[in-house]
Amino acid sequence: MLSGSLRLGLLLRLAALLCLLLALDAFACYYTALHFANLVYDRWLIDSDRSLATAVHAQDGRIEVDLPRAALEVFQFDEVDTTYYRIDSAPQGLIAGNPALTPITDVPAGQVRLADSQIGGRRVRLVSGRLRPLIPGSAVTVSVAETLIKRSALTREILLVMVAPQVALLAVALGLAWINVNRGLKPLTDLAQAIESRGHDNLTPVSEAELPLEARVLASRLNELFTRVTAAMQSQERFVADAAHQLRTPLAAVVLHADAAERAVEPDARRRALRSLRQSADRAARLSQQLLLLMRAGPAAAAARMAPIDLAVLVRRIGEEWVPQMLARGIDFGLAASDEPLPLVADESLLAEMLSNLLDNALRYGRPAGRVTLGVLAAPAPAVYVEDDGPGIDPSEHARIFERFHRLPGTAGEGCGLGLAIVKQIAELHQAGVRVDSDPHAGGTRITITFAAAAARSTAG
Ligand SMILES: Nc1ncnc2c1ncn2[C@@H]1O[C@H](COP(=O)(O)OP(=O)(O)OP(=O)(O)O)[C@@H](O)[C@H]1O
Ligand SMILES: [Mg+2]
Repeated sequence: MLSGSLRLGLLLRLAALLCLLLALDAFACYYTALHFANLVYDRWLIDSDRSLATAVHAQDGRIEVDLPRAALEVFQFDEVDTTYYRIDSAPQGLIAGNPALTPITDVPAGQVRLADSQIGGRRVRLVSGRLRPLIPGSAVTVSVAETLIKRSALTREILLVMVAPQVALLAVALGLAWINVNRGLKPLTDLAQAIESRGHDNLTPVSEAELPLEARVLASRLNELFTRVTAAMQSQERFVADAAHQLRTPLAAVVLHADAAERAVEPDARRRALRSLRQSADRAARLSQQLLLLMRAGPAAAAARMAPIDLAVLVRRIGEEWVPQMLARGIDFGLAASDEPLPLVADESLLAEMLSNLLDNALRYGRPAGRVTLGVLAAPAPAVYVEDDGPGIDPSEHARIFERFHRLPGTAGEGCGLGLAIVKQIAELHQAGVRVDSDPHAGGTRITITFAAAAARSTAG
């Protein structure tokens, strides 16, 4: 419940604190009340003891008690409590009173002492007073005790008078706290209400004016998030629109060539139409495959497939897979992978797609019957590169070739302009750097991917 509502949580914590203070205060009040109740009734008890002592006198060398029955009745009369007495003398022993009462010993002559005691299982307050010697060598102790009913009633009454206003005060304090907590949280509740009442597609910034510091930090973080989400949504929308637009071209061509093939009477014309249809279908298939790959390389999608791999082994495998295609185009294909293992934490299938896209570019845009090298570097960090001796890429285009659907002006062939965007996205997913070394004057292109972070993770693990 505390995590459910900030307001309720604050109030409950405050209420708990106030109740604890009230309990401590009630405890202190109880002992104060008890102290005063004892003070009043102890004085009365000592008076009773002293008046009983006046009935003790010495006669013929013996201690006697002259206590008329009427006087005793007056002394013992009490509507609420029961009073007990006992008079002892040394060496005579018990002279009068209740033998169940245990007097306080060691009371100095001429003084009284008070104590809590029990008679027949009932709690009592006891006073014992030692008289000054009436006969040389004698010691007389007069003890009076009474039950605690009046004292308890007085303590309760004092306690009630002291604590009741404090309970009322607690209720008032909680009421004021509720009002102030609500007032303090108002900027936050207003902010929540403003966000709640807007449509789910409304990502305009919330107003930060007149907000207290803590709420302003929250609002500014929210606004930053809104800006990022808006940018991401716009880029996603642009991408979907671009993708649909790009797909429309080869699909329209498929329809066109299918119509032509249907209408063609001549076998040659029909064969030509079918070949074109096949090419358009291939282009659409390549485009959808590249689009799917781009989606798969999204940051959230691939994080779970990260695993320890050996980059050298992967590069050798991909190199071997590409040998037939390179040979078919008369390309001198070289593999520069060492036998040393190069451990990485990576998504192996995405790295394979990344290398395939780089090799595909080198094959397509490199020099016909030229040279292509796929290689790995171990230091300063594990890296992989693909190099060709083609016409190269102008430095002004180095950044743009990684944009989606961007192709260099005049580039021929089937490409859809997604290959390097995929390479970049997969590299970012592995926190790897991408570097283009290319010069259209000297010719040749080398694209290097350096895995500093993924290698660090693999050695740490
Ligand atoms: N090795 C290279 N040499 C010269 N130009 C290149 C090279 N690699 C890429 N380019 C240029 O960069 C452009 C973008 O390359 P990218 O791989 O992103 O797209 P694509 O090859 O056209 O299409 P896709 O790979 O999606 O089928 C290419 O169209 C080409 O003009
Ligand atoms: Mg490509």
